[in-house]
This record gives sequence, C-alpha cells and structure tokens, in this order.
Amino acid sequence: MAEVSVGQLACRAGVSVATLHFYEQKGLIQSHRNAGNQRRYNRRMLRRVAVIKTAQRLGFSLREIADMLSELGDQQDITKDNWQRLSQQWHQALTERIDSLQRLRDELNTCIGCGCLSMDNCQLRNPDDALGEQGPGPVLWERKDS
Ligand code: FES
Repeated sequence: MAEVSVGQLACRAGVSVATLHFYEQKGLIQSHRNAGNQRRYNRRMLRRVAVIKTAQRLGFSLREIADMLSELGDQQDITKDNWQRLSQQWHQALTERIDSLQRLRDELNTCIGCGCLSMDNCQLRNPDDALGEQGPGPVLWERKDS
C-alpha cells in the first residue's frame, strides 16, 4: 500500500489526526485528494512525521523544522543522505544552544541573585553591558517610546 489515510498515518506515526492536519497546514507534510475527495498520504510521510517529532523532542520549533525540511527541496522523501545532513544541522544547533546555556549558567554565578536586576551590575539583566553599547541613558525606555 503506497498511500494511507489520515487515520492510518496517525495510528502508525503515534500522533493524533489533528496533529497531522496541523503539520499539513504548516506545510510540514503533504497529502492529496483521491477520487472520493479523501485525503491520502504517501507512506513516505511516515518518516517525515518521525523526523518532525524527533526534532520537536530536541527542542526545535515547528518554524525551525519547516525551514530545515524546506532546505531538502521539493523532495519529500527523507533519504539517508538527507537524514545525515539534518542530523549534522541539529547537532550544530544543539551545540550552540548548550554553549549559550552554559554561558548563561556561568553568568548566573556573577549575579548574586539579590533581585536588583541592575543594568550596571547584573550579568543576567545586562550581560557585558550590551545595553551600554547602544548609547547613554535609559536605552530600553527610549526604545519603548519610539
Ligand atoms: S539580581 Fe542583583 S546582581 Fe543580579
């Protein structure tokens, strides 16, 4: 069977029918209508749903996943090469997030957690005085007014 109904795909992928409709609405998966005007999915969509669910589990947003999948072009099949490319991309993105979280954790060590959230002293509120580089005065306040 090359094609499956939405219910069959949902059952085999372990997701709800509503989830599949949502993915389709977001352009993450595709279907077509058969002669009876029923939605049909190529079995390749099963792998695509697995990739989407895995990416979500790793913390990627649906927008990010859509961007990644669109880079594969119109090719709807997730080949071994595509999968390797995606997983390398994910690995790099996860490494960057981990580095960012570690920096944030280290900055927490410089914050004494006093609750001041000082623009001058608190590394969590204003790391490396990034706001100071945007000019003198209450930069955030002035941005709010414009
Ligand atoms: S909250 Fe006071 S230094 Fe961070």
